[in-house]
Amino acid sequence: MQQLINQIHLCKNLSDLENLKISILGKKGSLTSEFSKLKDLKDEEKKEFAAKLNEQKEQLTHAFNLKFKELNEKFLDEKMKQDAMNFYYFDENSKAGALHPVMSTMDKIIDYFVSLNFSIEKGPLIEDDFHNFEALNLPKSHPARDMQDTFYFEDKRLLRTHTSPVQIRTMLTQKPPIRMITPGAVFRRDFDLTHTPMFHQVEGLVVEEGQKVSFANLKSILEDFLRYMFGNVKVRFRPSFFPFTEPSAEVDISCVFCKGCGCRVCKQTGWLEVLGCGIVDPNVYKFVGYSNVSGYAFGLGVERFAMLLHQIPDLRSLFEGDLRLLEQFR
Ligand code: DAH
Repeated sequence: MQQLINQIHLCKNLSDLENLKISILGKKGSLTSEFSKLKDLKDEEKKEFAAKLNEQKEQLTHAFNLKFKELNEKFLDEKMKQDAMNFYYFDENSKAGALHPVMSTMDKIIDYFVSLNFSIEKGPLIEDDFHNFEALNLPKSHPARDMQDTFYFEDKRLLRTHTSPVQIRTMLTQKPPIRMITPGAVFRRDFDLTHTPMFHQVEGLVVEEGQKVSFANLKSILEDFLRYMFGNVKVRFRPSFFPFTEPSAEVDISCVFCKGCGCRVCKQTGWLEVLGCGIVDPNVYKFVGYSNVSGYAFGLGVERFAMLLHQIPDLRSLFEGDLRLLEQFR
């Protein structure tokens, strides 16, 4: 018996162990064949002999199991070492990937606001009328809904047309102070030189208790942000209209292509429109149950920022996956 146990201990690998196991406990194994002797024994001997065999079988099985565990661990360790990848190996002929310019632009935008302690909030791509329109002060008959050509599902749900519904979701689940941005994809029924059915926006929202937040705060943060993005550009605020902000503005920067002299891209105006913003309309607070608060919001299109940053003339080239474009961003 001890000899068998020693043999088990001496096994060096899983297949030796398996062979040994078969030779002892297998159908024709040495111990198994001992059991066949039982039928030739007298009753009283039988009992004792059977008990002894069973005990031996148990001991051996236990020893096999322990050894199996040990060898299997060793085997897996070695296999993992063999299969491990060397992340330090750099093949100069391989083509490293790179972030898509839309994603690197998004990252750059996010970095700015995260450095100011804004949180990043998420919302669903499939929205309902309440979050996408109604709570943003766009009642059913409001003409501003025409601005947003919407993809509807049969059950009246819709693909969100902007990232603004995440403002609503955040205010419904959090209390002020809120300082958030929310980056993500949005969808509209549009397709031409300057529009694609899917594009990306970053929305921002700041809400504080009391009347602390003013248009001056909004103006200073956006001016700083736009100079961080585009360098030393001029920034101007033009009065505009959005249902969810009052007053509202559209923000222009001096044209990054012609430096404000006038060119084809800025249609000879010297200015490029880059975002919309405003002081949150008090009607919006009613929908989320806020009172005595003040805040501002803004929204921008990431593709447009990427095009201006990298001087990409055609919006659609950002979606075609053409390697000749993407390789320039490695
Ligand atoms: N949601 C607007 C759009 O998709 C963008 C926008 C404008 C967002 C002004 C805002 C804002 O938060 O204040 O066109």
